[in-house]
Amino acid sequence: MNADAGIAQGLALVSRDEDGVDIAFRAQVLAGLGQRQKAIPARWFYDEAGSQLFEAITELPEYYPTRTEVHILEAHCADMGSAIGPGRAVVEFGSGSSMKTPLVLRCIDPAAYVPIDISGDFLRASAAALAADFPGLAVVPVEADFTRPVLLPPGVSDLPKLGFFPGSTIGNMVPPSAVDLLRSMRGTLGHDAMLLIGMDRIKDPAVLVAAYDDAAGTTGAFNLNLASRINRELGGTIPVDALHHEARWNDTLARIEMHLVAARDIAFTVAGKDFTMATGESIHTENSHKFDARSAATLLLAGGWSPRETWTDVDGLFSVILADASEARMAP
Ligand code: TRP
Repeated sequence: MNADAGIAQGLALVSRDEDGVDIAFRAQVLAGLGQRQKAIPARWFYDEAGSQLFEAITELPEYYPTRTEVHILEAHCADMGSAIGPGRAVVEFGSGSSMKTPLVLRCIDPAAYVPIDISGDFLRASAAALAADFPGLAVVPVEADFTRPVLLPPGVSDLPKLGFFPGSTIGNMVPPSAVDLLRSMRGTLGHDAMLLIGMDRIKDPAVLVAAYDDAAGTTGAFNLNLASRINRELGGTIPVDALHHEARWNDTLARIEMHLVAARDIAFTVAGKDFTMATGESIHTENSHKFDARSAATLLLAGGWSPRETWTDVDGLFSVILADASEARMAP
């Protein structure tokens, strides 16, 4: 692969070995299970079953973020429209089904919409549906991994940009990775850009834990699906029935953690390698960082974005923040 691979577009984004095994999946699972605190990157949740379970999570009574963010976008449409102004190319990072996008597009009179997603088929279908709802809007999907710098298509590169990054997805990254991503977005979006970003707020831990450990067990099924996926795709023998889902509030790091905890001592193999877990030992599978106004501002500033305005629901559960691309370090 050449040096431009990181920004190449239209290439196959998944490499597989001669048996069809996703090479990155195997490498990251084996490395993660070999750590003292076992951990697997959250991106591997989203196979077909995982993506469907995640859709179901967003509709759970305990899972407030999705409906609260939608409500904030609806309630403050006019304010957002005047703060952002017309004529921008809206660049959405990890657009998925573009569910929340219309709520922004209809408020700001945009010049173009550029959804970026790693799943090409899904991306093109969602982009086509959205284009039908906004006749006259240039919709230019880009199939890419948004955690790397993305080359925007020529037609939109001269327009002023609005980055859109809803869902508090920034909170699923540890701070160094979140800062890297914000800086990379700053580079992709260029001079005079703005960023509209959803960030979930710190609140009563009982409310937070319930949102990630619902009574119906859907989030548990989502977490356990990762172990089933490993068994299926990597020839694993993990006894899934010996693992249980746990959501923990880590107060020091202000984050919800999801773990798969061993209910008894177990031994298993994955891709021919042996692993053991003692009773109570866990595989750490997800972080969801929560923010207050200052920690949100600090993270954005570290990533090259100056917060301008914050919109919140009446209960202060979630915030949508508008930030300006900071000019090069002007501080004394
Ligand atoms: N970013 C959202 C959140 O942290 C969505 C999400 C990512 C999520 N991974 C998850 C929700 C796992 C539930 C479980 O809430």
